[in-house]
Amino acid sequence: MKITVLTLFKEQFDSFLNTSIIKRIIEKGLVEVKVVDIRDYSLDVHRHVDDTPYGGGAGMLMKVDVLDRAIKDNRSPNSYVLLTSPKAKPFIQEDAYRLSKMDDIVIICGHYEGVDARIDKYIDENISIGDYVLTGGELAAMVVMDSLMRLIDDGINADSLKEESYTNGLLEYPQYTRPYEYDGQEVPFVLTNGNHEEIRKYNLKMSLRDTYLYRKDLLDKKELNDEEKELLKEIINELKQEN
Ligand code: ADE
Repeated sequence: MKITVLTLFKEQFDSFLNTSIIKRIIEKGLVEVKVVDIRDYSLDVHRHVDDTPYGGGAGMLMKVDVLDRAIKDNRSPNSYVLLTSPKAKPFIQEDAYRLSKMDDIVIICGHYEGVDARIDKYIDENISIGDYVLTGGELAAMVVMDSLMRLIDDGINADSLKEESYTNGLLEYPQYTRPYEYDGQEVPFVLTNGNHEEIRKYNLKMSLRDTYLYRKDLLDKKELNDEEKELLKEIINELKQEN
């Protein structure tokens, strides 16, 4: 896979691309990343990339001609072009899976107060990482890149992907490691008894419990099987008793 990032702040990507798992994925040749300075496509002597909005309003907009030149010079015919923007459907794990299957992605990091709306003609998708506004799209681009690059990593454990949060529409269950007892807190006994079926059921129940407590919206979207429905009933009863 090839990922090309168009940005005004190339240096923001340095430590991201040179650290830990992301660095290893690049060194293995699984993903080729190119970071391009949008200013290189400004035709003006001061390398301006933004201008004031027609009709007035606060702030500056990124210029469509500069971005179009940057995209044309860095895309291939089968590139999928993304623009980071708070004005989009929030990015979720399903999007990471979808994008991780593509061969060639171009990510434009939006900046200033926004981008000339005519950019829509040159991109395939706007992408937001959540319902809040960042100073720029660089962090959003890194979030998107991180989430899809790790899915391409052939070193990643397939079982851990299967069980992680969101993959099956639920949050991941809580996990524990040594010591068995710390500061008066013990690891749930069932996890230490070696009974795989009991452990599976307990972990599923805890996964349902955390999803019920923190992300009820995910439960509303998920079709639960009979076992999950039964466990959820138990959880709701237990929570009622706790309160
Ligand atoms: N740029 C500014 N805010 C953003 C957000 N929430 N997601 C993606 N890009 C952004």
